[in-house]
Amino acid sequence: MLSWDRWRPAGACYLHDAGGIHGTGHAGRVLVWSSLIANWMRQQGVAVDLDVVRWSAVLHDVRRLHDGHDPLHGARCGAWIRDGGFAASHGLRASELDARQLEQIAYCCTWHVPPDRAVPAMTPELLCLKDADALDRVRLGGLDRRFLRTGLAAALVHQAQFLCDTSELQACFRDDQWVAVRLASQRMGVWSRLDDTRRLHFFAT
Ligand SMILES: [Fe+2]
Ligand SMILES: [Fe+2]
Repeated sequence: MLSWDRWRPAGACYLHDAGGIHGTGHAGRVLVWSSLIANWMRQQGVAVDLDVVRWSAVLHDVRRLHDGHDPLHGARCGAWIRDGGFAASHGLRASELDARQLEQIAYCCTWHVPPDRAVPAMTPELLCLKDADALDRVRLGGLDRRFLRTGLAAALVHQAQFLCDTSELQACFRDDQWVAVRLASQRMGVWSRLDDTRRLHFFAT
């Protein structure tokens, strides 16, 4: 099975609250959905960098100053990555991600906040992040499926609600949201299915 904790955002990344509504629970669920959407796109012949998708998923909200309206948190995150903050906080070795990938992660984090019409280029990786982030709006009761961009995301709304609900029901959720989402996603089978992309289309039906 894919190593879940490889993508755990370090606590030092967070400017605000790793245990809040934009904390590690949200990061984990966005990691799940963005990975599924990325694999689905790859099945259709779209070139998608899975490492860029997954790191963007877990980092995109770590530089929030608070959980309210903070329109610069994406740009702040992009600058932090470009300045070496991400590499330093995770002890990344040069062999793990190259400069092009780091720039792509910074790009996704920067542009996940503005509306699609303002984005310079909707890369496949940014598309994965935006739809996965939108799916986890179920935790806020604010998901409008008309705004989802991919067919797979539109088919995953009920699963997104289920993962959100079951992760928050885990006994460890209050202490460690990341582990709670891991347990819930493994019990749903969604995380293990990422090892076998041939089975992904069954998940969305
Ligand atoms: Fe955000
Ligand atoms: Fe987010």
